Amino acid sequence: MALVMLHLVVAMATAAAVAAELPRLEQSPKADGSLSILAVGDWGRHGEFNQSRVATQMGIVGEKMDVDFIISTGDNFYSDGLTGVDDKAFGDSFTGIYTAKSLDKPWYTVLGNHDYRGDALAQISPVLGKVDSRWICMKSFVVNAEIADFFFVDTTPFVVKYWTDPKNSTYDWRGVAPRETYIANLLKGMEAGLMRSTARWKIVVGHHTIRTAGKHGDTPELVQLLLPMLKAHGVDLYINGHDHCLEQISSSDSPLRCLTSGGGSKAWGGVYAPGADKVEFFHDGQGFMSLRLTATEARLAFYDVAGTVLHTWARTKSTQY
Ligand SMILES: *[C@@H]1O[C@H](CO)[C@@H](O)[C@H](O)[C@H]1NC(C)=O
Ligand SMILES: *[C@@H]1O[C@H](CO)[C@@H](O)[C@H](O)[C@H]1NC(C)=O
Repeated sequence: MALVMLHLVVAMATAAAVAAELPRLEQSPKADGSLSILAVGDWGRHGEFNQSRVATQMGIVGEKMDVDFIISTGDNFYSDGLTGVDDKAFGDSFTGIYTAKSLDKPWYTVLGNHDYRGDALAQISPVLGKVDSRWICMKSFVVNAEIADFFFVDTTPFVVKYWTDPKNSTYDWRGVAPRETYIANLLKGMEAGLMRSTARWKIVVGHHTIRTAGKHGDTPELVQLLLPMLKAHGVDLYINGHDHCLEQISSSDSPLRCLTSGGGSKAWGGVYAPGADKVEFFHDGQGFMSLRLTATEARLAFYDVAGTVLHTWARTKSTQY
């Protein structure tokens, strides 16, 4: 009897730990241990607003770099996400646009606020993975790629105004509401994942800005709830979309860089409003970002709609750590 009880307690403790844990995926790096990645956001407009031109350049850079996977920072389908798993927009704005062979790799994807205005569950449904096997979209998850751990965070539920504005009653909060519990669990899962991560590089991806000089401004909910956790756990990069521009912002009290790659289609927000943190690069236009990681170096580049390199940046880490 005592033994049975003990087993039950252990099982319950395990279940509780699992509940807080984010789903984990394994991604193999190249044979030499390195990784090449592209990141793009705010894109799905049936090829319009230069989406197709950005896609073409991603294909070219993707081939040169032999990319291992692509990150989508959300707002995948405008204006209101998908209507369901059979929405033609999936083919018209994704499968039929990113056609280069080099982009035939996993697309690790988060949801943006516009995705939540449609059928959010459709985008995370495994059915879409059967339609296009590249599509890997979940609300929050971890991709373990040996030298780097990537933490994908569902940022839309953080933003209070999406819950409170009566005009904004169209958000698909199925599986999310109530907000407080959802966010508490998500942050618990993030913290547990960051604590157990032994990867050399820790990279967090979300749709919303933390620091930005663009139109939407910083997201105060993330500045308050997520940013301190990223700094405390030595996260190297936070990659987001939401602002339709490209930018790199440093942090005055940590090595963290906030990178916006939200130039997948409609751009030219016309706003440049730097905050307290230093803006190291800003491009008010379409484009995308690449990232190359080795055990000792992270190197990133931003490209415009014509594939021109606008900015590069690198950080090295010694082999001792
Ligand atoms: C598309 O890119 C071209 C070349 O940079 C630019 O002239 C044009 O304004 C862009 N179109 C849109 C809709 O942003
Ligand atoms: C309503 O949602 C739209 C689109 O997400 C956003 O631009 C707007 O700021 C929201 N309005 C308010 C008051 O939250």
